[in-house]
Amino acid sequence: MANGTHVLVLPFPGQGHINPMLQFASRLASKGLKTTLVTTVFISKSIYSDHPIASTSFRTISDGFDEGGFAQAKSPDIYLSTFKSVGSQSLASLIKELGDTGSPVHAVIYDGFMAWALDVAKQLGIRAAVFLTQSCAVNSIHYHVSRGLLKVPAEGSSVWLPGLPELKVWELPSLIYHHGSYPAWFDTIVNQFSNIDEADWVLVNTFYELEKEVVDWMSKIWKLGTIGPTIPSMYLDKRLKHNKDYGLQLLHPNTSACMRWLNTKPNGSVVYVSFGSFAEVGVEQMAEIAWGLIGTNAYFLWVVREPEEPKLPDNFKHMTREKGLIVRWCPQLEVLKHGSVGCFVSHCGYNSVLEALGLGVPMVAMPQWADQATNAKHVEDVWGVGVRALVDEKGIVRRETIKQCINEVIMGGERGNEIKKNSIKWKNLAIKAADHGGSSDKNIDELVAKITS
Ligand code: UDX
Repeated sequence: MANGTHVLVLPFPGQGHINPMLQFASRLASKGLKTTLVTTVFISKSIYSDHPIASTSFRTISDGFDEGGFAQAKSPDIYLSTFKSVGSQSLASLIKELGDTGSPVHAVIYDGFMAWALDVAKQLGIRAAVFLTQSCAVNSIHYHVSRGLLKVPAEGSSVWLPGLPELKVWELPSLIYHHGSYPAWFDTIVNQFSNIDEADWVLVNTFYELEKEVVDWMSKIWKLGTIGPTIPSMYLDKRLKHNKDYGLQLLHPNTSACMRWLNTKPNGSVVYVSFGSFAEVGVEQMAEIAWGLIGTNAYFLWVVREPEEPKLPDNFKHMTREKGLIVRWCPQLEVLKHGSVGCFVSHCGYNSVLEALGLGVPMVAMPQWADQATNAKHVEDVWGVGVRALVDEKGIVRRETIKQCINEVIMGGERGNEIKKNSIKWKNLAIKAADHGGSSDKNIDELVAKITS
């Protein structure tokens, strides 16, 4: 029945958005839908794939910056507004072309960051699901801001929202706490909710057990489908034998060097450090991380993207060659799964958090911006799977703090053991949610049934 039904999946063009939505497309394909992932022209020229994905087709639309993508635009504001105008037309043309060439589109699943895609789908009479790539907690906060139910800048020292723990204002997403810091991004996250009531389905990349209270609350507003964690099946429920990685990388991972190096290290002895695909860490902070890592007894594998490399202290790579490996990009899932890795120092990008949870790796949280402070709050206080390395009055996490946090997680005192226990608990719950008959699996089945009906 589902075989002829064709769904377009449209992620925002960034690694942290392509990964979960492409993975979701693979799940839908495994349930019999025909899926097409739509990337931008520029992204399609920059991607790299270890395991091409047979189950999903690929098409492109223009964001108006076909030669250089986001970096080609003079500002985020120009990028986002051009993407909206050029992308809307380009998407409409693609949908019409697919219809004319015998592959009509029956539904569009669009990233909430591209709310304009819903307008395009509706104008063409196509049903659409919004895919919210951040946690339900973060979405609820942004929803409250969008409806004027939470004032920005937030007043007082804490906020209380339904289904969420007390949040200190500095635990709110940075676009709210540092209101005015990136106005174009602020508009984008708030705009996710501007037309959401018209969406046929609302999907969130979380699983029910992880965010029960806030999911229950949000489900009173829309029929919410929790469909996560969107981690390749072979790292989770292992039902999809070919689903071994996300499929598309914007940077080349240094796989063999990482795995060879990890293979020589004892169980649980390595600290894996990564700040994702986007964050820019200041020079002073880089130095504190470097000296903090030297201060621990652990080995470390540190992802420092090429533009960040000049910020490393002089001679650091050479000085620490016995103890550490620094690479520009790594196969993060393989690294997290490796038995030698005992701790993940993370910026708490939402995908990294879900991956650490799904693979049972304890975390040291060092949030940088966007949703990360709220994710870090959940990592430490709600899910109990890590500790937060807190900033000083200058906004820098000092080397002593980093060292203490890593030691606490990796050395296994009372708190470290509790964190490890919780990590295993959440790993099992994540697998259960994705496995046959689990909460997310059931929601995906329900979505497929509705799309095909
Ligand atoms: C962005 C935002 O910063 C984040 O806060 C938001 O929740 C999602 O979008 P990013 O900063 O890139 O994402 O972080 P994250 O969400 O963790 O995504 C990074 C992805 O890249 C992960 O899936 C991770 O597995 C992958 N990765 C990272 C690699 O494959 N190799 C690496 O070396 C580092």
